[in-house]
Amino acid sequence: SPPAIIAPSILSADFAELGKACSDTISQGADWLHVDIMDGHFVPNITFGAPVVTKIRSHVSKPSEKHGKGTFDCHMMIAEPKKWVKEFQKAGCDLYCFHYEAAISSTAAESPEATSEAKTSPKDMIRYIHECGMAAGIAIKPDTKVDVLWDILEGKEEVERPDMVLVMTVHPGFGGQKFMASELPKVTELRKRYPELNIEVDGGLGPGTIDQAADAGANVIVAGSAVFGAQDPGDVIAKLREAVES
Ligand code: DX5
Ligand code: ZN
Repeated sequence: SPPAIIAPSILSADFAELGKACSDTISQGADWLHVDIMDGHFVPNITFGAPVVTKIRSHVSKPSEKHGKGTFDCHMMIAEPKKWVKEFQKAGCDLYCFHYEAAISSTAAESPEATSEAKTSPKDMIRYIHECGMAAGIAIKPDTKVDVLWDILEGKEEVERPDMVLVMTVHPGFGGQKFMASELPKVTELRKRYPELNIEVDGGLGPGTIDQAADAGANVIVAGSAVFGAQDPGDVIAKLREAVES
């Protein structure tokens, strides 16, 4: 597997001290910052948008290489992912991770009959994100089968292949939910086919659940409440890393 990447989700940080929370978690050993963007449509919750990302971006140095320390991993739980690509690039997002389900339904909404077009839409999204200068991630919800990804991962041109796949291990919308081990076979299957792919898991991860996720082959670990709710966040970050690397 590729190297372990620990990405604390700032959804569980103190929003009144967000800039400080971002720089603190990086100095405590985090690799990336996982930034949850929710629009109240794709998920039943609202967080924040590009202006907040612009402000907190200045508290963390830009990564010196692709996927390097300080990467802003923006998890876009929004109904119209294409609409916000440029805006988030300007705000300092490094990795734009959209939901497969949103990409499919926003295309379908434009042309209800064009099923084949709807199917190619995630590839178009990935190409567009790359052309805008960011890495591209694609996320799937618990109700979405991993099979929808095979065609996307086999994109003929590199520009339309994702840099990361995010397998949700909770129903997106809120921090602090229970880990769904039922989603791990997706990770196992992805890892079997793609030894070098960045596979991210998000939801309910912490010292008690990390071993299962690491065994399945996940290497990018998101943790919100487990990191920001800890007495010693640095210790939790170290434990998560150790589990992935062992
Ligand atoms: C859930 C978000 C997660 C959330 C994880 O919709 O995508 O990133 O912050 O929180 P925990 O780690 O507390 O489950
Ligand atoms: Zn997330």
